[in-house]
Amino acid sequence: MDLSTKFDGLTLKNPLMPAAGPLVGDAEKLLWLKDQGLGGLVAKTISTKDAHIPHPCIIGEGNNAIFNCELWTEYPKEKWINEFLPELKAKKGDTPLILSVGYTKEDMEVLIPLLDEFADAFEVSCHYVGTDHEKMGEVVRTIRSLTSKPFYMKISPHIPDPAGFAHTIKQNGANGVVAINSLGPSMVIDVEKRQMACSNDKGFVWMSGPVVKPLALATVYTIKQAEPSLTVIGVGGVASAKDVIEFLLAGASAVGMLSAPMLRGKELYAKIIADLPKELEKYGFKSVQDVINTQLKNAVTYEHDMPSVDASKCSHCQLCARNCPYFAIDMDENRVPKFNPNKCFRCGLCASKCPVKAIKF
Ligand SMILES: Cc1cc2nc3c(=O)[nH]c(=O)nc-3n(C[C@H](O)[C@H](O)[C@H](O)COP(=O)(O)O)c2cc1C
Repeated sequence: MDLSTKFDGLTLKNPLMPAAGPLVGDAEKLLWLKDQGLGGLVAKTISTKDAHIPHPCIIGEGNNAIFNCELWTEYPKEKWINEFLPELKAKKGDTPLILSVGYTKEDMEVLIPLLDEFADAFEVSCHYVGTDHEKMGEVVRTIRSLTSKPFYMKISPHIPDPAGFAHTIKQNGANGVVAINSLGPSMVIDVEKRQMACSNDKGFVWMSGPVVKPLALATVYTIKQAEPSLTVIGVGGVASAKDVIEFLLAGASAVGMLSAPMLRGKELYAKIIADLPKELEKYGFKSVQDVINTQLKNAVTYEHDMPSVDASKCSHCQLCARNCPYFAIDMDENRVPKFNPNKCFRCGLCASKCPVKAIKF
């Protein structure tokens, strides 16, 4: 099974990369990730100054959400230039290395010339630029004037108009978008201590992990629809080979993952790469490129039949009846759901929540 993906002169042997964060915070960690078989590497965001990071700075909640106030790399740019990046260049082989840089036009004027020799491509964290298109365009033009390498602007979910963002960065010379950064401001509260469980000096943290995946998918899709010639790297909530396929269907050419391995174990990177061929085969795809070439269809329809149940599969848990927001499900004498056609709204919740997939819609 061919897992490779190619864009902007880069070839990745598979579409999975890490996303910028603590797991890619120095050369040792990045080389460990390379050995997991990742298609590309993305380093922690480097800026002109090293970050002053509050502690604690990461909270994991359940299996699906991470909250953080970690900022960019705690190391000065000189440590990256003199230590980490020469080591990476010597040892990374043919795995493309995307260097994440932040934030302003002035930062770019300093950083891009210093980092260019080490980068196969750049990813640009630009949330401090704000939402002004003129300012964003200026940052993009500045980077384009400083490097011939491909570069991708990382969109923060607070950008109100991803399609407008896509137009602006395309017109000014960027190769694509990384979508999305973590989501916020958000807040976690420790009731016992009567304080935030973890926060920056304003009281906020940023949210990531599987919980943000639907938002990330929609942003990838919106950008790709608005500017089909842009490369999109999908990031946000990836946790399985199936998630990778979903991002490729939505319009991504590759994906990044960070939070899920921090919640469920770092071996998840290698597992997803190992699972991907089986998962592609299961859904009838011939290759990663085949998924990328597939046109995603809209599910909208205004006609729907009633749900039906396969009684032999039903586990009699009654979840469908307890959850139904239209009070349309009762259990029959065998504790199998029966649907009241006068009350059933054909909403689909019962089918989507049935733990044994006994309900069809
Ligand atoms: C602890 C932590 C640190 C992060 N640091 C950075 C960073 O330095 N630069 C950046 O662009 N994004 C950073 N991110 C955002 C991630 O790269 C990613 O966009 C986001 O977490 C969504 O992906 P995920 O759900 O797979 O984690 C960080 C996220 C977390 C959780």
